[in-house]
Amino acid sequence: MTAGGRADVVVVGAGVIGAAVAWRTAQRGLSVVLVDPAPGCGASYAAAGMLAPVAEAAYGEETLLGLCLDSAARYPAFLAELRGACDVPVARTSGATVVVALDGDDLRALDRLSDYHDELGLPVRRLTGRDCRRLEPLLSPRVRGGLSVEGDHAVDPRALVQALLAAGARRGVRLVRRSASSLLVESGSARGVRLDTGEDLTADVVVVAAGSWSGPTGPLGGLPAHLVPPVRPVKGQVLRLRGEPGPAGLTRTVRGWAHGAPVYVVPYGDGRVVLGATSEEMGFNTDVTAGGAYELLRDALALVPGLAELELVEATARLRPATPDNAPLIGPTAMPGLVLATGHYRNGVLLAPVTADALAGFLATGVPAGEVSAFSPRRFSATAQQVSR
Ligand code: GLY
Repeated sequence: MTAGGRADVVVVGAGVIGAAVAWRTAQRGLSVVLVDPAPGCGASYAAAGMLAPVAEAAYGEETLLGLCLDSAARYPAFLAELRGACDVPVARTSGATVVVALDGDDLRALDRLSDYHDELGLPVRRLTGRDCRRLEPLLSPRVRGGLSVEGDHAVDPRALVQALLAAGARRGVRLVRRSASSLLVESGSARGVRLDTGEDLTADVVVVAAGSWSGPTGPLGGLPAHLVPPVRPVKGQVLRLRGEPGPAGLTRTVRGWAHGAPVYVVPYGDGRVVLGATSEEMGFNTDVTAGGAYELLRDALALVPGLAELELVEATARLRPATPDNAPLIGPTAMPGLVLATGHYRNGVLLAPVTADALAGFLATGVPAGEVSAFSPRRFSATAQQVSR
């Protein structure tokens, strides 16, 4: 079967963002082709799937926090709809996230986060060390304090991508397992992509959701500088452990600091646990290193010593697509027909519902969605033009 052809919309990249955009857009009655040589094998494959806008809130990123809270609020309905649209179950944690601190410096970091939550009016409960262990008995007796964040949860991102692909397929999304090598441009407008087979896939709109490959190394690399998204890879290493399912296991996501090092531990409730993550500016390198694995185990075991009993089943490194302001690029670009859904950095899984809803609405009606207006890709093209002048 030919990989080329025509559609209303071509989505480049079948990670959690691309797959969600494709499904939602097909629901609006548009024909969609999703292009990816290895669907779900990029950043989504390593992600722990935390839906943790409050625990991950960062100073100076209040606009992004608003988008994260919006998307988190959409998750229950999004997953319920997905359940009805395919046969792939997606596990979601139910207990609150607990953020913990081990030593005096860690407690000071916790205080700062707690003050920030108070400033923003975010619902968080302060805990003593004993409160922390009452909530989560597997925490180390050395944990000195913490926060309970009732609204922060996690989903299994690998299952989520498979569910989105299955739901999309039911809606007629055609999956092409090839790479897009370049953008097709006609009279200044995007008109599709050329595949690595040399075939052309034409479309009225191209949505680039290729994560770290949305930047200069991807199919948009040949465009003028002001049109190439400023996305760079930030490597994250994670470890996957497996224990017995059941009440003896960890019941909630634990994040925090172990002697200054940030770490998180995410249990899916079925014995599987993810430990993450390193944050490394190493270009496109995805080696798993002994040092990375050592630090993750050291820090996670300091918070939850019982993890030492679990089987170590996987070590993975993938690339988060980061932007200069840590916020995503969602919406139309200065080139007609070229739309971005990329640069989600640490929040790809969390931001999938709001990104997909906003873009599907835009693609169906031509009206840009208000909830993502602050994340327009054009906020950077102005800077790029000034710099290149
Ligand atoms: N949001 C988790 C991470 O980027 O590691």
